[in-house]
Amino acid sequence: MNQPRRIAEVLNQPAGEVPPPRHVAIIMDGNGRWARARGLPRTVGHNYGAEAVRQAVKGAAQCGVDYLTLFGFSSENWKRPAAEIDDLMGLLKLYLNREIDELHQNGVRLKVIGDRERLGADVVRLIEAAEGRTAGNSRLVLTVALSYGARAEIVLAARRLLQAAERGEVSPGELDETAFESFLLTAGMPDPDLLIRTSGEKRISNFLLWQCAYAEFVFLDKHWPDFGIDDLQAAIAEYQGRSRRYGAAQ
Ligand code: IPE
Ligand code: IPE
Ligand code: MG
Repeated sequence: MNQPRRIAEVLNQPAGEVPPPRHVAIIMDGNGRWARARGLPRTVGHNYGAEAVRQAVKGAAQCGVDYLTLFGFSSENWKRPAAEIDDLMGLLKLYLNREIDELHQNGVRLKVIGDRERLGADVVRLIEAAEGRTAGNSRLVLTVALSYGARAEIVLAARRLLQAAERGEVSPGELDETAFESFLLTAGMPDPDLLIRTSGEKRISNFLLWQCAYAEFVFLDKHWPDFGIDDLQAAIAEYQGRSRRYGAAQ
């Protein structure tokens, strides 16, 4: 739980000196609509979306963000046609193969959260290699949510908690928010300060439900492939103009 520290930080902040968000989360939406508007197949939209990921990572590091979490593929996205899923998994493999050297050189630590059991063995191998290789980096933690759903994450946390209780490691009386969080896939990470969603939809689509309890939301109309560093900077500036109160009186 990082809330008490954040409340103190925010309430003691001199006006005009709001620090950049420590953790930015992005729902990268609109690849399909971007492609359709150009008469192209959805997969082309996903290809261009991968370029926008590069921009977001570069921009986050430049803006002083410590954690960037990207929603790449949801548990619900398994409902899509097999051909689109294959294209997305192929693109993911390409990204992991091509980008990992540069990410590593730039001090980026890569993490993946989600249900790995549904991902192919080849994808999992690449993820594990990338995570292992970048484990010692600390400039930016890039977390990619793949085959991820927040409700499934919360149920998994509850299951792990019950198992720990069966082993006598926790008791009901000891359970608090901090203890519960340690069972989530994001254990050890601060909560997102800023959540960005592109493409005009104003919903959370089962992303980081627990963690976004006090995130500031910025919704952009442009589709994800058109997202650039300037959009990230503008979203951060909007965040810095917000008043975060966490329920306290102003
Ligand atoms: C986001 O773009 C990428 C994924 C969800 C994998 P979409 O594929 O959802 O594009 P739209 O929303 O249909 O335009
Ligand atoms: C959310 O986008 C998931 C990702 C960006 C990976 P969707 O396109 O799947 O969300 P809905 O279906 O519009 O809510
Ligand atoms: Mg979508």
